[in-house]
Amino acid sequence: MKSYIVGNWKLNFTVGEASIYLHKLQKKLPNYRDIEVVVAPSTMALQSLSLQVDRHKMKLAAQNAFYRDFGAFTGEVSFAQLRGVVDYCIIGHSERRHIFGEDDKMVQKKVAAAVRNKITPILCIGETESERAFGETADVIRDQLMGGLADVSDEDIDKVIIAYEPVWAISSTKAAKLATPDEVGEVVKLIQKTLKEIYGAKIEDKAPILFGGSVNPSNAGAYLTVPGISGLLVGGASLILSEFTDIIEIAKRVKS
Ligand code: 13P
Repeated sequence: MKSYIVGNWKLNFTVGEASIYLHKLQKKLPNYRDIEVVVAPSTMALQSLSLQVDRHKMKLAAQNAFYRDFGAFTGEVSFAQLRGVVDYCIIGHSERRHIFGEDDKMVQKKVAAAVRNKITPILCIGETESERAFGETADVIRDQLMGGLADVSDEDIDKVIIAYEPVWAISSTKAAKLATPDEVGEVVKLIQKTLKEIYGAKIEDKAPILFGGSVNPSNAGAYLTVPGISGLLVGGASLILSEFTDIIEIAKRVKS
């Protein structure tokens, strides 16, 4: 299975800054066959970056999109409009869930719309600090996974990526804590168990699982060697080119 290193730029960089970053990144990036490098710029920059990106080296992701293709939905951008512009879309990020009130039903529709429009969804799931403290992690993970994947058929599950991002480990969360590789490993097992319940044993090696939450060059190697982890979703460190390329290098080393 490939490894995925995905940079989520969130609401950072102007279109010009994004273009300069992409230019520099592509210059530094070898053509790795077994590492899929992806960046998720703001929607504003996607159209122009899609003309600049060298798809042999890396791919683009959107950070969000709406599930209806066209219609009276002021302010939204659809997966149908993003078709051909991006290869991936982050869906259900905890910031979408907690700041913009997206629930599992909304996430379910977005995942289905992505698959329908040939865009690979990166379905984000993860518990908050208080959910973990109350022993609800397993239920939250299960509910978010079952909800998000409710419309994804057996044939389509290999077109979905799962990203486990404990909300309490995201660098912008107040008093963020680093997740230990053991904590990550436990949740990965839960995810694998739930996927098997939904899709049966043949799910093995489909639906790659990524980890995200304060990933940087000094902890990337430890997370990448957690059994069942196939890549990283990087926030803050992906904004610093040298850190992002270091993480890609580490992924390459872990792979070989
Ligand atoms: P940080 O790497 O800044 O913690 O962000 C993680 C994240 O939310 C990526 O989607």
